[in-house]
Amino acid sequence: MIRNILVTGGNGQLGSEIREITSNYPDFRFFVTDIQDLDLSEKSKIIDFICKNKINYVINCAAYTAVDKAEDDVDACYLVNRDCVKNLAEAASGKAKIIHISTDYVFDGKGNRPYTETDTTNPQSVYGKSKLEGEQILMKISPESIIIRTAWLYSAFGNNFVKTMIRLGKENDSLNVVADQKGTPTYAANLAESILDIILFVEKNKTFPFGIYHYSNEGECSWYDFCLTIHKLAGITTCRVNPADTSGYPTKAARPMYSVLDKTKIKSVFQLEIPEWEIGLEKLFTILTNT
Ligand SMILES: NC(=O)c1ccc[n+]([C@@H]2O[C@H](COP(=O)([O-])OP(=O)(O)OC[C@H]3O[C@@H](n4cnc5c(N)ncnc54)[C@H](OP(=O)(O)O)[C@@H]3O)[C@@H](O)[C@H]2O)c1
Repeated sequence: MIRNILVTGGNGQLGSEIREITSNYPDFRFFVTDIQDLDLSEKSKIIDFICKNKINYVINCAAYTAVDKAEDDVDACYLVNRDCVKNLAEAASGKAKIIHISTDYVFDGKGNRPYTETDTTNPQSVYGKSKLEGEQILMKISPESIIIRTAWLYSAFGNNFVKTMIRLGKENDSLNVVADQKGTPTYAANLAESILDIILFVEKNKTFPFGIYHYSNEGECSWYDFCLTIHKLAGITTCRVNPADTSGYPTKAARPMYSVLDKTKIKSVFQLEIPEWEIGLEKLFTILTNT
């Protein structure tokens, strides 16, 4: 039976990567939307959309992701990351299952081993707090939802660290990049495929193992390590990259110093294989060089 899937935030990094692979899933009919087609701040429109199109699953990729700007733009950030999630949860209730995307920024980053889903949250930024409140409101209204926390997302679409480092590497002789923050980059195309494989798993096994899950690529690195690998793959040899301390580069919003996510749960529940972060990055470069 064909299943109808609504993707919100479809012009963002993750939403665009889902759009790219829809033809690989012939049993799913996709409705990929963004704010122009379906503004999540308008609950009645979401209800209409879900009913009219008989939506079975919602993948919520919509978010306010400008982490530093959010410190001043608090209301706009909470509108998308909390209030729109509430609207979606209420609109989908009893009709469609929700897979919602959240972030490593719900943690304070003071840990020293990969964060599990049961670790204590303690967001340090407006963005992190708004995303945590989005998780909480979703679980209150629609506890049988799946929340996937991810980290350090990049893709062929939109602006991200990979594209910025390529540009800066080409423009500059040297670059200072933070080396004391550790995490794991996530290729949005890998996450997109895993999300759709999760729905395949759910359909095949007729079970919806709701709850919170962590997802990034495998391995860990600093932003400095990440930049060196990006420059290597981009063939940039004329830019010297220097390791820097966070303390020398204050940002408006605090970043977690350590935000490696433990993927044991998502891998075992949904039988997923997750590529190492370097493999995801290599894949992106093959796509960038062929387009
Ligand atoms: N980017 C990261 O490094 C990162 C890290 C960890 C977790 N995440 C999470 O991963 C998810 C996907 O992130 P992403 O990088 O793909 O985000 P993104 O590129 O910023 O895309 C988000 C999309 O949501 C849209 N949107 C905003 N307000 C909306 C509304 N009211 N109704 C419908 N759509 C709306 C945005 O449109 P406009 O552009 O027009 O506002 C944008 O197209 C988010 O939940 C994010 O919090 C991201």
